[in-house]
Amino acid sequence: TIDQRVDSLMKLMTLTEKVGQLNQYSGREVTGPSSDRKTYLLNDIKNGMVGSMLNVKGVKDTREIQAVALQSRLKIPLLFSLDVIHGYKTVFPIPLAESASWDMDAIRATAHVAAEEAAASGIHWTFAPMVDIARDPRWGRVMEGAGEDTYLGAAIARARVLGFQGEKLGAVDAIMACAKHFAAYGAGMAGRDYNPVDMSEQMLNEVYLPPFKAAADAKVATFMNSFNTLNGVPATGNAYLQRDILKGQWGYKGFVVSDWGSIREMLPWGFAKNLSEAAEKAIIAGSDMDMESEAYKKELEKLVKSGKVDIKFVDDAVRRILYKKFELGLFDNPYKFSDEKREARVMNDPKYKDVARMAAQKSIVLLKNVANTLPLQKNVKNVALIGPLVHAKKDQAGSWTVYADTNNIVSVYEGLKSKLGNAKFTYAEGTSIDQTSTAGFDAAVNTAKNADVVVMVLGEAGDMSGESKSRTDIGLPGRQEELFNAVKATGKPVIVVLMAGRPLIFNSIADKADAVVYAWFLGDQGGNAIADVLVGDFNPSGKLPISFPRNVGQIPIFYNHLNTGRPVTKASDIRYKSAYIDSPNDPRFAFGYGLSYTTFAYSDLKLSKSAIQKGETLQLTFTLTNSGKVAGEEVAQLYIQDKFASLARPVKELKDFVKVKLNPGESKQLTFTLTPEKLAFFKEKQGWVTEPGDFKVMIGGSSDGIKLENNFELK
Ligand code: IFM
Repeated sequence: TIDQRVDSLMKLMTLTEKVGQLNQYSGREVTGPSSDRKTYLLNDIKNGMVGSMLNVKGVKDTREIQAVALQSRLKIPLLFSLDVIHGYKTVFPIPLAESASWDMDAIRATAHVAAEEAAASGIHWTFAPMVDIARDPRWGRVMEGAGEDTYLGAAIARARVLGFQGEKLGAVDAIMACAKHFAAYGAGMAGRDYNPVDMSEQMLNEVYLPPFKAAADAKVATFMNSFNTLNGVPATGNAYLQRDILKGQWGYKGFVVSDWGSIREMLPWGFAKNLSEAAEKAIIAGSDMDMESEAYKKELEKLVKSGKVDIKFVDDAVRRILYKKFELGLFDNPYKFSDEKREARVMNDPKYKDVARMAAQKSIVLLKNVANTLPLQKNVKNVALIGPLVHAKKDQAGSWTVYADTNNIVSVYEGLKSKLGNAKFTYAEGTSIDQTSTAGFDAAVNTAKNADVVVMVLGEAGDMSGESKSRTDIGLPGRQEELFNAVKATGKPVIVVLMAGRPLIFNSIADKADAVVYAWFLGDQGGNAIADVLVGDFNPSGKLPISFPRNVGQIPIFYNHLNTGRPVTKASDIRYKSAYIDSPNDPRFAFGYGLSYTTFAYSDLKLSKSAIQKGETLQLTFTLTNSGKVAGEEVAQLYIQDKFASLARPVKELKDFVKVKLNPGESKQLTFTLTPEKLAFFKEKQGWVTEPGDFKVMIGGSSDGIKLENNFELK
């Protein structure tokens, strides 16, 4: 068995070699021109002082470096790791965009292609999925997750893990996944990256941990801890998170890698006085592999010899890492993932373009469509394309791409041109993304005046979201909204396509545009997918996985908030209510919202019982009808409210959803199931509890578009 093989190997290992397995380096230099760093890395690899490399990719380079590792005394192969976040060679939509599809098969499919490409290129392990719940769009990394909701986030975590890892580790078309960042990284104060997190036990367990638990249940091979503190303790040195919850309560058998330098970062946090203390705290807390701090390499052997760190902690970490190397089959063939022929074939497989286009289409959210402005008539004659992102290629890749050939990315201009071959296109940039002057506005207005319809492509630059890209102002950068106003003043119908890595604030566009299409960053096939939607070849079905605020002052804003003791019940009456005097409380666009070119009707809600006993399951049956004129897909959503409990409960919580395709006039009877776990909530000192009482169920096409309601009692 693998356990036996790990045991016998560990018997041969010196303490130095064990510590070596816990050390991970970033190795861009290791295959580059000679340098001191290159010599240093190669020596450490040859001496068995490295367990894993990150950022070495491609068959040629991984083979070359694996060969160096095989010169070490025990010939233990390296793990090659990389941030394969939304595609490897083929660029898929950013994760937040894909989350808007609410389509687990699509999400699993893109993760699988990413894995297949990466695995064909020598990679064993991706640092994805990021399963951090994010309720703050100022945070740049909101683009990398599944948005604000725990239930949706957990479903997506599972889909992504299964997509990357396939059925069983060791297949040559799959790689190890990594659930990150454990934990609560998405809740950094004020939306600032790497910032502290202060959070109740209840919030942690109910909102932030379930997607991690879902990943662990889906057998994710690894976890990554995070840069933040949780209630004063850095996650990397947090034994409660890593030992008690993850490896204890959840019985997790994979290993935990630190985030980049996060062991060393315990020094500036003021949690460790030197690197030795940081290493001690991290290993005892359950951080198994040290990414780029060199804390273990430099300090761990001394710490064990001096008795400060029990060897059992080191052994446990080594065992977990070696187990994965055996599971991947690297001891049987260290070059298993480094096959030149497979790399050449997989990397140029045209079928992945179709997967990219499908995923991009499903990620698009139609936010507004006045008087059926969209879809465009296929015989439209003069189309003005205006805005800084009309020709965007690289920007559509978004953050975190590794091998993207940005020339391959289809711009909106190219996508529309290939769809509407007979139309005349005119173009004006109008403004660049961060321009301060209005130069270019006149040309844009003139272009608009001569067209039948205007398509404006506006938004953030691709690198304005991602790690270390927090913003205090999440409006459209520069003067883009003013440009919109000027163009709109021509009286022409204006369709706005918005590209971004986060929810943006764009109130005048939301008020005045004839149609608004939220296109995030869609990757390689972005322009084609947008064109598919604009001309109606694809009926949009995306739903927002995160609330879109009206202004920054509302943040954090999320649909599953508590009611307060003074809720606003009438917009005109906010005196002494929990309200703002200068803004409504509700978001501009709510969680779960998204339009279609057709309409859906909800009817006939029936509950299997009006009261259930503790432990019983409740079925909710209803009819969904496509009440419009074209075929379309709807994401029907089930929310519940626990009306009275020993802790105040949210006004709504998503507990199920289903995505259904219906032809015009077609109806389907659908069933949601409420299991006992879905009725539970977390209480400090008690854990998950269900309490008898009344529950409300709500079904609709968005969190603010409830169409069916009923109540039941839990006895
Ligand atoms: O995987 C990432 C992590 O999410 C943020 N810091 C760097 C790591 C490795 O690139």
